[in-house]
Amino acid sequence: MIRIFSILVGLFFTVALAWSLLWDTVQLSKDGLPTSAALEFGKAHDLKPLKLASDGPFGKFDKKQLKRGFEVYAGVCASCHSLQQVAYRSLVYAGLTEKEVKELAAKATINAKDPLTGEMKDRPGLTADKFPPVVFAGTGTPPDLSLITKARKGGAAYIYSLLIGYETSQPAELVKKFPDAKTPEGMFYNPYFANLNIAMAPPLASDDLVTYSDGTKATKDQMAQDVSAFLVWAAEPELEQRHQTGAWWILFLIFATTLAYMSYRNIWAEKKGH
Ligand code: HEC
Repeated sequence: MIRIFSILVGLFFTVALAWSLLWDTVQLSKDGLPTSAALEFGKAHDLKPLKLASDGPFGKFDKKQLKRGFEVYAGVCASCHSLQQVAYRSLVYAGLTEKEVKELAAKATINAKDPLTGEMKDRPGLTADKFPPVVFAGTGTPPDLSLITKARKGGAAYIYSLLIGYETSQPAELVKKFPDAKTPEGMFYNPYFANLNIAMAPPLASDDLVTYSDGTKATKDQMAQDVSAFLVWAAEPELEQRHQTGAWWILFLIFATTLAYMSYRNIWAEKKGH
């Protein structure tokens, strides 16, 4: 009796597990499937190339670029997109001074528990706080940008291509072949976006939307590159350390391999007779 019962329980869990796996797979394949229009006219597979100092196994962040990128985020994107995984104090690693970080945090309003009463209350930000949520009233849902370079295929190159890849009109052929894919009122045609029509108006539509503190000319292309570099940092501030650790590991492995080879020669020297 007990045996049958335990078999039944086991069976139940196995079926539940298999079911949830299958269900996820089905949902994922549904979500991720590009439309025929996107397959034919989309450019998601052909991103604009973007070279960053942090690329490659030995790449390091270009702090000047990170700071410019933050200036673009703060001046342009922050009105719609939050950055809730990033703490103000970590911005010192993105080229801001401690004073700048303190001033920035103090300007923010953080809704947090009052330690005296336990009630939620607004207070000025501290450097240890993370960026607060952003209330957005327009159409569409601007995603939080903290991890966006990890969440999208192509990472920084995708963000860069998306930002400068808007086109003013759809190819006539597209509309003829796929009338359903016609850009709806209030949306914008962007062949880099998964379903071609995006609810975000071109955020970098003209030059000089920000004034860079290092005097660099803020062209559209420059702003797009810089903010993409900044978002790579936001998603993985410890990238440099990871690269460094990797380099040390490779050195160590070379050393250990040499050592192993030398002891192999030594141990077998007699048996092999040389
Ligand atoms: C006026 C509001 C607004 C501004 C300003 C804005 N965005 Fe957006 N953004 C949106 C909305 C709305 C969406 C969702 C679009 C959709 O799902 O159709 C979005 C989506 C995105 C996406 C996600 C695309 C995807 O693959 O899902 C990225 C990346 C992005 N924005 C980056 C930026 C960056 C970088 C800036 C600053 C240079 C910026 N946005 C400025 C409103 C804005």
